[in-house]
Order: sequence, then C-alpha cells, then structure tokens
Amino acid sequence: MNAWGIIKTIIIGGSTLVFFFLLWFYNPFKHVEHYEVDEEVKQIIANPWKKTESGKTIAEEGRELFINFCSSCHSLRYDGIYLMSIQTNPKWKKIEKSAGRPVYRHGILYKDRFFVPKDVYEAFAHDELQQLKASLGQVPPDVSTLYLARGEGYLYQFILYPGKVLPGTSMPPMFNPQADPQAKEKVAKIVAYMKSVNTPPPKEQMKRNIMGILIIVYFIVAGLLLWKYRENLLKRLGYH
Ligand code: HEC
Repeated sequence: MNAWGIIKTIIIGGSTLVFFFLLWFYNPFKHVEHYEVDEEVKQIIANPWKKTESGKTIAEEGRELFINFCSSCHSLRYDGIYLMSIQTNPKWKKIEKSAGRPVYRHGILYKDRFFVPKDVYEAFAHDELQQLKASLGQVPPDVSTLYLARGEGYLYQFILYPGKVLPGTSMPPMFNPQADPQAKEKVAKIVAYMKSVNTPPPKEQMKRNIMGILIIVYFIVAGLLLWKYRENLLKRLGYH
C-alpha cells in the first residue's frame, strides 16, 4: 500500500468508528431524562442476583413484593405472574398447563412459572381487566419489559411517587417513605426484580461479551486471510 492508500484507510476507518461511537454511546438526538436513585438503595438495584441474609436473592424478594403489592393490578407475563384474581382461579392452572410453557431464562427452568400467550391470557382475564379499566380509567399495563423501556431511575421514582412523576396518573402510591422506613428498600427490590427479568446475570453477560469479541476477531482474521489470498491471486494472474 502506498502513502495515499494508508491515509485513505485511516480516514475511512476513522470516520466509521466515529459514526458508530456517536450512534451507540453518545447519541445527541436521543432525549434522556434523568431520574435520581437514592444512594442508599443503589447497591440493591445494581446486583439483583446477590443473596441477602434470608438466603434468597434480592430478585426473589422483589418478586414476592411485586406479587403482594402490584399483582392486584399488574401482570408480569414474562415471569409467569398474572393478576391475583386470575392466579387463584383453579381453571387458570389448567390453562397454564395446556396453553403456556414453563419460564426458561438464562439457563434456569422455572417449572412453577408459566408463560401464557397474550391473547389467551387477555381472553381468560377479560372481565377482570375490564373491571380494572372501569375503576382506573385504563387497564394497568403488563410490566414485563418496562425496565428496558423506562430505566431504573424512572421506575424507582415512579413506583415511590406515581403522581409526582406522571401527574394525573391513576396508579396509587403503594409505599409511603414517611411512614415506612423500609419503603425505599422495598421499591428498590422491586426494581431490581424487574431488572433481573430483562437483563442477564454477570456470568451470562460475560459469555455474550466473549462471544461478541470472538466474532469480531473471526472477521478480522478472515479479512486478512482474504486479503492475502487476493494478493497471491493477483500475482499468479501476472498483475504484480
Ligand atoms: C390499583 C392498581 C395499581 C396497583 C396496585 C399498582 N399499579 Fe402500577 N399502574 C396502574 C395504572 C392504572 C397504571 C397506568 C398509569 C398511567 O399510564 O397513567 C400503572 C402504571 C405502572 C407502570 C408504568 C408507568 C409508565 O410510565 O408507563 C409501572 C412501571 C407500574 N405501574 C408499576 C407498578 C408496581 C411496581 C406496582 C407495585 C408496587 C404497581 N404498579 C401497583 C395501577 C396500579
């Protein structure tokens, strides 16, 4: 390669890098709103897979809190949580077995949690969902993927103070930090649980990162070999 060729490669390669950097890491067109998470509970959301003194993980404790405090209005179908009134209906158990499949996530099969397709669930729960709509003005959304859609800061603030974050919302505040000293910790555990449903644990994440790096290395090596092959071919054809 001559000097001009090297300069061209650097310019094209460099601008490609800058382009993807802007797109993925620093997108100036993306509107990002910032919501604070209290310092003392940041650690809880940071690692949902950590075991607490009770022997359960933070995510498991958050799941129990979610079932107790939220499943009267919300389902979380990706993790087999349906409205409380549905979950206690013996007919629903049969539907779960026939139309659902056990939840399998990050290498663990949860035999007692069933993922049931949306239309089957909504048809079965039609009356309950309509009742909620009549009293709240809308059907409370399924929260399976809301961690990805909203981010932890928003969820933490919204669950603690729904009316402050979303003025006019019909979701009532379920926790009162003034009266309950553990309110913030409980909300953090629920957010940690929602995170654990949407993101892989560190070990799994590591595997994916290694896979990604291997694929990039493969393309670089294959590209170099192809380049070498091209040189040889040109030589044999008498172009060099
Ligand atoms: C009395 C019923 C009720 C209970 C209990 C309830 N919610 Fe809600 N929730 C709603 C309704 C209604 C909405 C839709 C609010 C809106 O869009 O104005 C909602 C919306 C949400 C949203 C979406 C907000 C958004 O920006 O789209 C999240 C997340 C949420 N709830 C989480 C929770 C969690 C976690 C709990 C348990 C601590 C809970 N909710 C308990 C009724 C409820």
